[in-house]
Amino acid sequence: MKIIKCRDYEQMSRVAADIVAEEIKSNSKAVLGLATGSTPEGMYAELVSKYKNGEIDFSEVVSFNLDEYINLPEEDVNSYHYFMNQHLFNHVNIKKENTNVPDGNAKDIDEYSRRYDEMISDAGGIDIQVLGIGPNAHIGFNEPSSAFKVGTSKVKLKKSTIEANSRFFESADEVPKYAISMGIGSIFRSKKILLLASGKEKAKAVYDMLNSEIDPKIPASILRIHPNVVVVVDEKAASLI
Ligand code: GLP
Repeated sequence: MKIIKCRDYEQMSRVAADIVAEEIKSNSKAVLGLATGSTPEGMYAELVSKYKNGEIDFSEVVSFNLDEYINLPEEDVNSYHYFMNQHLFNHVNIKKENTNVPDGNAKDIDEYSRRYDEMISDAGGIDIQVLGIGPNAHIGFNEPSSAFKVGTSKVKLKKSTIEANSRFFESADEVPKYAISMGIGSIFRSKKILLLASGKEKAKAVYDMLNSEIDPKIPASILRIHPNVVVVVDEKAASLI
């Protein structure tokens, strides 16, 4: 696991965008695993700039997102579909048919989840998976639990995650209680993982990821046994390490 400490959010975003851009430059058909949340917003803005100045081309790039809320319309401003359109897809030349965000409104979520993992394998697997980290060290929506979930599945969100994500909604009551998320196995099969963390609210999660036992109660701790992980953190998120 390689750790890159950055001064601040802006530098973290630039370093992360450079890593993703290199991936696209070395393979025009790169399969990107994408994340939502406040953390990668700056990285997406940098990638949009790189596209606009001709540095990178998304025309053959394929993407798979980590997760989506269940039963939230795709057009809802808080859906991860909406987020991806706003922050990346609407601003670059990625083909909409090459973008995949889990369908939180699928009739049969279990069947759909199995298919989502198949779609990733059929695309040749993810070349680089971008991850944020929750304050409780969740990745995607893999919440602390007694066992690691292998494949994509429906997950129940922890109260702390609902509270953390309620800042985007009118109130915590409006935050969906369930989500569909790639599992730890789906994430683990990615050839490379790029985890970003910013701010003091993430310092404990970053510390635990690096120092706890490898334990499903600290979901990100499993990343220590993946062969190709880069962690890009700003000073505040790195304050305990
Ligand atoms: C959500 C997402 C995660 C994200 C995490 C942290 O729960 N499902 O993928 O990493 O929140 O979000 P933020 O970057 O906004 O702190």
